[in-house]
Amino acid sequence: MKILVTGGCGFIGSHTTVELLKNGYEVIVVDNLSNSNNKVAEKIKKITGREIIFHQIDLCDKEALEEVFAKYDDITAVFHFAGNRIEDESLEEPLKYYRNNLDTTLTLLEVMKEYNCKKIIFASSSAVYGNPEKLPIPETANLRVITPFGQTKLACENILRDIYATDDDWSIALLRYFNPAGGHESGMLGEKQCEKPNNLIPVIIKIAQGELDELKVFGDNYNTPDGTTIRDYVHVADLAKAHIKALEKVLSTKDIDIYNLGTGRGYSVLDVIRAFERVNNIKIPYTVVDSKADEVPEIYADITYAENKLGWHPEKTLEDMCKDAYNFAVQHKKEEEEEKEAEKRRLEEERIAEEKRLEEERLEAERQKEELEEIETLDTE
Ligand SMILES: NC(=O)c1ccc[n+]([C@@H]2O[C@H](COP(=O)([O-])OP(=O)(O)OC[C@H]3O[C@@H](n4cnc5c(N)ncnc54)[C@H](O)[C@@H]3O)[C@@H](O)[C@H]2O)c1
Repeated sequence: MKILVTGGCGFIGSHTTVELLKNGYEVIVVDNLSNSNNKVAEKIKKITGREIIFHQIDLCDKEALEEVFAKYDDITAVFHFAGNRIEDESLEEPLKYYRNNLDTTLTLLEVMKEYNCKKIIFASSSAVYGNPEKLPIPETANLRVITPFGQTKLACENILRDIYATDDDWSIALLRYFNPAGGHESGMLGEKQCEKPNNLIPVIIKIAQGELDELKVFGDNYNTPDGTTIRDYVHVADLAKAHIKALEKVLSTKDIDIYNLGTGRGYSVLDVIRAFERVNNIKIPYTVVDSKADEVPEIYADITYAENKLGWHPEKTLEDMCKDAYNFAVQHKKEEEEEKEAEKRRLEEERIAEEKRLEEERLEAERQKEELEEIETLDTE
């Protein structure tokens, strides 16, 4: 039995792949590496001592995906992570989000149907709830999406619901993540930093690494205990474990089910700053600026259903998330600097070799010229 993981080199996909390997599954990863890199497979091997099968393909490329399904005829279930994930970016580039998040899902589902593979775990988001009517948010809450990113996740959920409605041979889990954070305890896997991060912990990390001066806290007069916004952060290692439980469910049932994956507890912006400072011993300067328009003050999950139905419970703390996320960022930066240094050395060696080659050419030309002149002198004599 093989499990296909789309986007398996990314943040949540790589941690889930580690957990799958640890639980004895054989894993095929497909990823176009648009937001990850090809060293992830090596790192997964270092952590687990096991190899993954990796294909660098774009999931929108149907023929390439068909080749993967044709090559391995025992793909039993699929984790679908490949897609874009930054909510604020989706407000600026909605087309990019609709195109990639819908195309990857439609192509994947068409190929799965073609190859009679009908078990899927889909990476959805709490963004489908938008501005929630009540807290904590249960899976049954009204969906009041407010961003293009959230719309793409809801559209994919609806596609999956429609597929199930016409063919109940499918088995589907829709996992709604709240705010995934942290990294692998080894420091080898984590969340890739983007140039303009919007999520709180990635921004704090940029400040800790001296790439930004201070944190802008958008508003401190919301109706929350300290006035700043509240989110439900969940450690990626806990998420990975929930994925194994969801897989077990999907393998043993023919159903469609939705699970909130958070911790069920909200932390404010100031809580996160303090936890990060405490655990990493780094001061994070911040100033309070105007609130963002349409910002949802408070979001946290009701995870009772996931706890009862999957037998899953998140174990890691906010401190663990701050520690592991920063540890990964530090190691990643060090690796990047070492790579830059190695590239600089390689270019310098190339430059020296080229200079040497030119000097040898010049000496050879001089020697030939002298030889010619000698012959000419002998001739005139
Ligand atoms: N991280 C979050 O905060 C969060 C929250 C809710 C939902 N999600 C969803 O979970 C999934 C995984 O998120 P993540 O944080 O690991 O993101 P990520 O960007 O780290 O991982 C996504 C992976 O998919 C790959 N990918 C993107 N488009 C592809 C394509 N067309 N073909 C092949 N590979 C492609 C990227 O290279 C990357 O490795 C995404 O679908 C995301 O929308 C994430």
